[in-house]
Amino acid sequence: MSTQTKRDFVAITDFSESEIRETIKLAIDMKRKPQRLDVLAGKTVGCIFHKASLRTRISFEVGIYELGGYSLYITEKEIELGKRESIYDAAKVLSRYLGMIEIRTFSHSDVEQLAKHADIPVINGLTDLLHPCQIMSDMQTITEHKGKIDNMKIAYLGDGNNMANSWLKAASRLPLDLRIGTSKNTPPNAKILDEAQKAAKSKILVTENSLEAVAGADVIYTDVWASMGEKHLQAEKEKHLKAFQINSGLLESANPEVIVMHCLPANRGQEITDEVIDGPHSVVFDQAENRLHMQKAIMVKLARDSF
Ligand code: CP
Ligand code: NVA
Repeated sequence: MSTQTKRDFVAITDFSESEIRETIKLAIDMKRKPQRLDVLAGKTVGCIFHKASLRTRISFEVGIYELGGYSLYITEKEIELGKRESIYDAAKVLSRYLGMIEIRTFSHSDVEQLAKHADIPVINGLTDLLHPCQIMSDMQTITEHKGKIDNMKIAYLGDGNNMANSWLKAASRLPLDLRIGTSKNTPPNAKILDEAQKAAKSKILVTENSLEAVAGADVIYTDVWASMGEKHLQAEKEKHLKAFQINSGLLESANPEVIVMHCLPANRGQEITDEVIDGPHSVVFDQAENRLHMQKAIMVKLARDSF
């Protein structure tokens, strides 16, 4: 067992501002000029998934392979995390076999506990509260398309969910002009919003007026209205959020060079129309591709700091 301090990536704020910038740069460099960085040689990364995934699972597994490691896919059925035994015991045992853990689950505090007790790096692959790897790769995509991330006018429209919360975490570290357009019934996490406002790094607006959110926006971002684990709330969310659909009419209020982003999977015709997601402003597949480059950059960073 290593006695060296290990690093985790459970929230964007686990990285300092300069570490976020370095990691975005590393992802862009690795994409432009593929290079062999065998930081995971001889290591197995446990990929724990308690929810469905296309992009996160496959980009992690491919990324682990490309970094010289082996990935082990683990579901709730095998380990019953926190039920069959304590998270503490599971963390200690997994640390004796694995080099790193990536986990997607429901409870954010389960991931925090796993990270606290594991002796190896733990990466958050999405919880009900946060999806930090997604927003890291989205900041890479914005940098590639717009030449910078600082002070970008980013309008997130839709549910105040793990994506909205992760944008707020990003805004705690980097200077952004972040506007969240959502209903009064679907706000982002109040504590995370408060922390982002207190960090005083970014301009932050939460508004029920979608036109106010997108005025002059460089980036318009959306996500499904009902996230995994809350599909039973679909009808209720639709009622609250239908005014926040991204359609061509809404785009007219944005910067003419606006890029439209969606983390995917999308419910076409609900939060975004076909016309927009398939239209000239959409960068959704660049976003999906960048998940791979960013997962690799995050794992390189954690490996260098921890092994
Ligand atoms: N964006 C994203 O995380 O996609 P998956 O749910 O398919 O992993
Ligand atoms: N908010 C969505 C994101 C999926 C990538 C969910 O949690 O289901």
